[in-house]
Amino acid sequence: MTRKLVAGNWKMHGSRAANEPLLATIHQGRPYDCDVAVCAPFPYLAEVALAFAGSELRWGAQDCSSHEQGAYTGEVSAAMLAEFGCRYAIVGHSERRQYHGETDEAVAAKTAAALANGITPIVCVGETLAQREAGQTEEVVKRQLAAVIHVNGHCISEIVVAYEPVWAIGTGKTATPEQAQAVHAVLRAQLHHAASEHAAAIKILYGGSMNAANAAELLAQADIDGGLIGGASLKAPDFLQIISAAAR
Ligand code: 13P
Repeated sequence: MTRKLVAGNWKMHGSRAANEPLLATIHQGRPYDCDVAVCAPFPYLAEVALAFAGSELRWGAQDCSSHEQGAYTGEVSAAMLAEFGCRYAIVGHSERRQYHGETDEAVAAKTAAALANGITPIVCVGETLAQREAGQTEEVVKRQLAAVIHVNGHCISEIVVAYEPVWAIGTGKTATPEQAQAVHAVLRAQLHHAASEHAAAIKILYGGSMNAANAAELLAQADIDGGLIGGASLKAPDFLQIISAAAR
C-alpha cells in the first residue's frame, strides 16, 4: 500500500493571526504516518515554510505559471517556488478552470512547468453535477487527465492526481466512497495505460467535502491514496483527524 498524502488547500483563506496557531498545531502533532502538506496563498508560503522548517511536513502553492519567466503580470513561476523549497503545486483546480478559464491544455502546460522545476504537481480533475447527471463523468475526467498525459507522458509517474467532483466542493455533499472509488479506478486504469508498472505508485487523492467524519471510509477505498482538503484544513482538530484516518 502506498503511503497516503493529506494536503490542505487553504484556497483564499487565512490571516497571519489565524495561520500561526493552525500551523503550530499541525507541527506539534507530528510525526505522522502519512505525508502531510499545506497549500497556502502565495503571501503566506514563507510563513508555512518557516513553521515547517526542519520537519518532514511539506508545503505547496495553489497554482503556478506555465511560463518560465517574462511579462506575465501577477503570475508566479515554478522556478521561483522551487527556489524556496516548494514541494507541491496544485494545478487545474476546478475553481481555476471555472473562474480563470484554464483549459486542459493550460493545465498540461502548468504540470510540465512544475515537473521541470522539481515540484510535484497535484493535478485536479472532476466533473460538474450536470456532467454527472448526463452520464459523462468518466469521459470528462479521462479527457482532463489525457491532456496532461499527452504532454507529460514521459514523467507521468511523478504527478499526483486529485479527483474532485465539482458538485462536492465546498457543498458538504461528499461523493460516496463507492462513487469516488469507481472514478479513481478509471483514473488508475488510464495511468496504468500510460505508465504501466508505475501506475500503482501514483497517488490519486480524493477532494470534495472530505471531513473528520467521512475521511476514514473514503480513505479505506482501494484506489484512494489520500485527500485534498479545503474547508476542513482550516480547522486544526478536523485536519488532524483526517491525517490520523490516513495514517491507519
Ligand atoms: P472542500 O474540502 O472545502 O470541499 O474543498 C475541496 C477542494 O476543493 C480542495 O481542493
